Amino acid sequence: MTRNVRAYAAAAVLTLLGSADARPAQAAPQEVLDQPSATADPHEWWKHEVIYEIYPRSFADSNDDGIGDLNGIASKLDYLRELGVGAIWITPCFPSPQVDFGYDVSDYEQIDPMYGTLEDFDRLVAEAKKRNIRVILDLVVNHTSDQHRWFQESKSSKSSPKRNWYIWRDGKPGGQPPNNWLALFGSPAWKLDPTTGQYYYHFFYPEQPDLNWRNPEVEKAILDVSRYWYKKGVAGFRLDAVDTLYEDPKLPDNAVIKGTDKFGRPKQDEVHNRRLPEVHDALKKLRKAADEYGAVLVGETWTNDIAELKRYYGNGDEVQLPMNFMFGMVNKLSAPEFRKQIKLVEDAGVWPVYVISNHDIVRSWNRYGDGLNNDAIAKSLAALYLTLRGTAVMYYGEELGMENNDPTRREDVKDPIGQLGWPEEKGRDGERTPMQWYPRTHAGFTGGTPWLPVPASAMTRNVALESYDPASILNFYKRLLALRRSHPALREGDYVPLLGDDPNVLAYLRRTNDAAVLVLLNMSTSIPNLRDVLAGTGLQAKLGRVLAATMRSENATVPVDAITLRPLEVLIVEIPR
Ligand code: GLC
Ligand code: CA
Repeated sequence: MTRNVRAYAAAAVLTLLGSADARPAQAAPQEVLDQPSATADPHEWWKHEVIYEIYPRSFADSNDDGIGDLNGIASKLDYLRELGVGAIWITPCFPSPQVDFGYDVSDYEQIDPMYGTLEDFDRLVAEAKKRNIRVILDLVVNHTSDQHRWFQESKSSKSSPKRNWYIWRDGKPGGQPPNNWLALFGSPAWKLDPTTGQYYYHFFYPEQPDLNWRNPEVEKAILDVSRYWYKKGVAGFRLDAVDTLYEDPKLPDNAVIKGTDKFGRPKQDEVHNRRLPEVHDALKKLRKAADEYGAVLVGETWTNDIAELKRYYGNGDEVQLPMNFMFGMVNKLSAPEFRKQIKLVEDAGVWPVYVISNHDIVRSWNRYGDGLNNDAIAKSLAALYLTLRGTAVMYYGEELGMENNDPTRREDVKDPIGQLGWPEEKGRDGERTPMQWYPRTHAGFTGGTPWLPVPASAMTRNVALESYDPASILNFYKRLLALRRSHPALREGDYVPLLGDDPNVLAYLRRTNDAAVLVLLNMSTSIPNLRDVLAGTGLQAKLGRVLAATMRSENATVPVDAITLRPLEVLIVEIPR
């Protein structure tokens, strides 16, 4: 988890030349929704379906205790089906003391009572299946909660059969921890446990002791957990924090490097406790178990190095979908920057996985918005990650243009890192606020008091109102998702970059032998005249037909050899072949 820089300061000041939204985007027709995306290989459904991340605390509350739950999610499946997503990834919903809001698991084979029961879960999977929506769970592989019975047994004595399930070491003389490693969440990485006088290692909060993956029993236990859920019909897992699975058993100090982190600590080069090569052995084993059930693995693979990202695919025998965060971290609407990132993955020869937002980073609305044209910018980003060749992972609420809603007072902060790092680090509450359903109290998320507050903007930005507004971000998402499913070039086509290094417009073709779609994203407030945008592609067409656009009617004809784009315009055109 790497949290990201706040708002991108907008340079451009502009008012859009009056909206020309003559005929706005329409949602998918029934036939498209009823049909799973056709793909060459049905086992590779995950290449074409959009994966929708749900933070269960915040999606929909069915019993008015202020916390979202599984029955809440089930009640919104029709919405998700109409939206057009093919899978939901639910962040951890297992029993947990909720120190890290579920990422501290105390039982891997149950549902936390605050979210419901195993029966509720089974029903959710069955109901989702009826709507062609698969369920992906979140497997926290690196650590458990300190309340997990494995850890309770492990800490009970040095001779406990579970002692070696975690990483225990004597301190250094003088009451010092075994080495200088730091936990990501602001403390040292070692905590002294008085029961045995030894330290245990934790990469995240002290309440999240690291499992010892060098112990085959641990490995087996986690593989068994994965099979338990596959048998229940789970379509795959998002694997949490995979780069932290192994540590150098000799525990050498990490070198201290230049600079300080958000908690004011000197930075370290984490060579001894992160990204160890053994990670890939573990991933291969997790993948083998997944293959027994035709399941998919999505990796939380934070890296800014394409070679490292590529390693997570293995030889097709590790993670099918390692998330590309380099793309999401562009953090400004910049055609050259996105072009560069797309080229990196395309050249790497891997199946791309594009992510714009999640529960650990500031919402795209705030990261990319300029304060004036946020709607147009949100649509541009949507068009980008939903029309590229690759799997798209979207975060709940992005389809509404939900904003980050950071706490303004330390005492309101729920995420512990926000309390520890205040005010520089405000924590992740802002991107985890309740889904906005209706223009009502608490956005219709709950009849009680929501665990995090709903911003005032929810009165206009919500599913109900946006559904009726043909020009809304929501309807644009629906249109894009329907196109992704139904248009062969968007489903199967390759990616052909156009317009060289144009500073303002990101242009590309998605192309199969029989179909072609031209995507033009004016990421600037200039008004470019594009001549011969198809030059060099071998395509002869002079006229195209609008499939989706923010400032033109669908089905309108476009002269492809001379197109003038409006500021921030999105234009997606079918090119006859
Ligand atoms: C991942 C999760 C994050 C969590 C951390 C520790 O980065 O996305 O929310 O805090 O792992 O489990
Ligand atoms: Ca609830």
